[in-house]
Amino acid sequence: MTEAVTGLICPKCEAPLSTSDKQWRCQENHTYDQAKQGYLNLLLVNHKKSKNPGDDADMVRARTEFLDAGHYQPISDALNSMVSPGRILDIGCGEGYYTERLRESLGAPADITGLDISREAVRAACRRSRLIRWLVASGARPPVEKHSINTVVSLFTPLMPQGLDHALVTDGDIITAHTGPYHLYELRQQIYDDVRLDAFAPVESMNQAGFSCVEEVPVAFRFQLNDSTMINNLLLMTPHRWKVTPDKASALQQLHHLDVRADVILQRFRRTDSI
Ligand SMILES: C[S@@+](CC[C@H](N)C(=O)[O-])C[C@H]1O[C@@H](n2cnc3c(N)ncnc32)[C@H](O)[C@@H]1O
Ligand SMILES: [Zn+2]
Repeated sequence: MTEAVTGLICPKCEAPLSTSDKQWRCQENHTYDQAKQGYLNLLLVNHKKSKNPGDDADMVRARTEFLDAGHYQPISDALNSMVSPGRILDIGCGEGYYTERLRESLGAPADITGLDISREAVRAACRRSRLIRWLVASGARPPVEKHSINTVVSLFTPLMPQGLDHALVTDGDIITAHTGPYHLYELRQQIYDDVRLDAFAPVESMNQAGFSCVEEVPVAFRFQLNDSTMINNLLLMTPHRWKVTPDKASALQQLHHLDVRADVILQRFRRTDSI
């Protein structure tokens, strides 16, 4: 049987993985089976902090329903306009909405891998597309060959600089998305008595890790949610779900309309010594 080279590495010994007949193997004979849904699990038990790390089934379902309704399409369109063809790795791909729309916009054949630590999320991603390689793995140790990826995408996911440094070619791009101060302002007004205008900005930690921001694309728009299920989906897919009090949560359940602001910033980073 012929063995195909894959661009992936063994999470145990970092030797290249080759594949034949849905089994993946390194020269040390560490083997990994492709799941029936189509993904490959390269997350080692000792790299997990809990039994089922990452987003759970409820969060994944809520995010899938919300994203499929198109409410965040302007973010996806802005991302697509920033990425050129090449080897692409989406770290923290979730249930694959942005990954699949990126693949469609680049046109076939695109070389795209989506990676997430949540098995629930990756299972949902497999249902979205079979034309993307889906991995359950940690973004801190992406199991791809060193310096092999042209563009790493990492949206609304904690950035793991050592993983980025491992994966990226010398002059590669990292595209990130994070929330600005007014993101989901009206939802937060329903949840908190005082809405804080905090924004999460990765620039400083990326600078310290040797990456510089070379482009910034703000994406600001409004969207309407016209039923309580969708409002609840939005709550469930955000970290606010952990902070909302039972009173505020049940008040939100009674709402049937919410006009919400999205305030997102996409950034392109490159290695500081390559620019
Ligand atoms: C807020 S979600 C964003 C998902 C997707 N990028 C999106 O925007 O729809 C964050 C994702 O990061 C994943 N995640 C968290 N820690 C991770 C890690 N160490 N490695 C890989 N994925 C991780 C979670 O499981 C979750 O799917
Ligand atoms: Zn190995």
